[in-house]
Amino acid sequence: MKIRPFQPDDFESLYALEELCFSEPLRFDREYMFKILTQPDSINHLVVDTETVIAFIIGSLHQKTAVRAVYIETIEVHPEHRRNGYAYKLLAELEASARAHSATQLWLHVDAANAVAIKIYERLNFVQHKYIDHFYPSGGAAYLYRKNIETQ
Ligand SMILES: CC(C)(COP(=O)(O)OP(=O)(O)OC[C@H]1O[C@@H](n2cnc3c(N)ncnc32)[C@H](O)[C@@H]1OP(=O)(O)O)[C@@H](O)C(=O)NCCC(=O)NCCS
Repeated sequence: MKIRPFQPDDFESLYALEELCFSEPLRFDREYMFKILTQPDSINHLVVDTETVIAFIIGSLHQKTAVRAVYIETIEVHPEHRRNGYAYKLLAELEASARAHSATQLWLHVDAANAVAIKIYERLNFVQHKYIDHFYPSGGAAYLYRKNIETQ
């Protein structure tokens, strides 16, 4: 089991996990998923067991005016590997990478109905910024969360 960045050969295994974790219309399509993994500002960490991706987090680095921030696109853990601390581990890895890129904020949207994910973000000191009705294509609402991080 190791944590490392995405490599092109990981794509099928990673996308199989996306298909397990999300159904349409919430699922990212293959093109969008490949884009967020390979664009130059992508920050991603994968938990890989031999050649199989069992968990991953994907973020993207943004610079708006003087603020450098990382937006977390998604975090997903294979159902058979949940409650083993991988979400905490991946969020810690992402935060460390964000600091290494001199980012001072993390941002994410979370489905307002996703109580497990909301609990995890709040435990890690993410703060609710706003509620957005009809955010998802399904019509579901989201919360926008932010965490301020210190640079090293
Ligand atoms: C949300 C998700 C990423 C959590 O991953 P995980 O690896 O199981 O989480 P961890 O093992 O690191 O657990 C973190 C905390 O959440 C709790 N938790 C995890 N799953 C839980 C569940 N089903 N019910 C209640 N608590 C749960 C853990 O007990 C732990 O809490 P603790 O601090 O009290 O110990 C995972 O359930 C998942 O992939 N869900 C589908 C995709 C998703 O919703 N992603 C998030 C939004 S983009």
